[in-house]
Amino acid sequence: MKVLVIGNGAREHALCRALSLDPDVTELHCAPGNAGIAAVARLHPVDQLDGSAVAGLAERLGAELVVVGPEAPLVAGVADAVRERGVPVFGPGAEAARLEGSKAFAKEVMAAANVPTARSYVCTTAEEVDRALDAFGPPYVVKDDGLAAGKGVVVTEDVAAARAHARGCDRVVIEEFLDGPEVSLFAVTDGTTVVPLQPAQDFKRAGDGDTGPNTGGMGAYSPLPWADPKLVDEVMESVLQPTVDELRRRGTPFSGLLYAGLAVTSRGIRVIEFNARFGDPETQVVLARLRTPLAGLLHAAATGRLAEIEPLRWADGAAVTVVIASEGYPVSPRTGDPIEGLAEAEAADGSSYVLHAGTRLAEDGETVLSAGGRVLSVTALGETLAAARERAYRGVGAIRLRGSHHRGDIAERAAAEAG
Ligand code: AMP
Ligand code: GLY
Repeated sequence: MKVLVIGNGAREHALCRALSLDPDVTELHCAPGNAGIAAVARLHPVDQLDGSAVAGLAERLGAELVVVGPEAPLVAGVADAVRERGVPVFGPGAEAARLEGSKAFAKEVMAAANVPTARSYVCTTAEEVDRALDAFGPPYVVKDDGLAAGKGVVVTEDVAAARAHARGCDRVVIEEFLDGPEVSLFAVTDGTTVVPLQPAQDFKRAGDGDTGPNTGGMGAYSPLPWADPKLVDEVMESVLQPTVDELRRRGTPFSGLLYAGLAVTSRGIRVIEFNARFGDPETQVVLARLRTPLAGLLHAAATGRLAEIEPLRWADGAAVTVVIASEGYPVSPRTGDPIEGLAEAEAADGSSYVLHAGTRLAEDGETVLSAGGRVLSVTALGETLAAARERAYRGVGAIRLRGSHHRGDIAERAAAEAG
């Protein structure tokens, strides 16, 4: 199978790595990709948001499966453009991707499908904002309605800060604060059948102990030793299947990856957000343990045959990923610095490896330079979370990048509690 992956982050590197290990994949292409992906896939320059350019590339390559990684092209209708040319594509069309592209739309779908989520108001005027903030009280949760690359949500005790964020957006969703640990659960779906992957946890804040600004995600681990073993079944029944059924009923079926961001509250599971694509960095740990060949799974979803696949197989043990970010990330990331120690960070037996995000090759064709905020991540496997953690941090310790920072506490508490 000839596969084309669209995107250039660590998520796409993780996808390409897993696809490259699938014996059915004969050719692997990525557009635009990054310096790390170049080691496993052939790169092609393309504007990710240009549906006809992506579809044209897919046709020229004779791609039999296109996997669209990030949300922006999905919301822009890139999957529709590829599907229209008759090429199987993993990723929802623009209509279904509104589940991520508009928080108000997601709330409406959840209400129709009876999916548990935070109570909320959609507000467009200052008066509506004030009324909603009053109704819920602190801590205030104010969300920009549209896509904002992880920067659209403010959670604050300070009513002035909540108002200020709302003023900067055209339309906001103001909702009740949800207490309790967060879980990311991904499901592969063809619009009818839903196959859940294993749950993961992400670390959104820049600093140790969940301090500092929100980021795209600084690390993740999977599975979750502290979670109720019935969690996945419960989320399938109360969240994933009803949402997929509702979108099909509306005539805009969701096929691709449905990402449920959940809070496990004292009153039960609540949806914090939906995403229409694999999460980053959770994908790095989830795919690290998936033993079912990935291309076959995604192709089955893209062609409406997911009901036919065997139950998924998983490696025992745990996976941990730690993100290395450039100096100044997330506020004003510094780029263009050489990265050293990449080879030393990887274990010869494949138990730890580097996944690139914001990297590029220098003119010399050898030196890898930082080219973004989240630069790369080290992902490691182990028999236990503690073992995977230790390996991941050993890899992180080998990498040298001027001014870079990472969190030191990824999976720390879960590993300690698991004993
Ligand atoms: P979102 O972009 O909707 O995932 O929000 C980003 C982050 O803000 C989430 O991962 C949560 O940590 C936090 N957050 C969002 N909504 C709520 C809520 N209703 N209650 C508490 N925290 C929230
Ligand atoms: N890790 C959060 C996200 O992918 O949105």
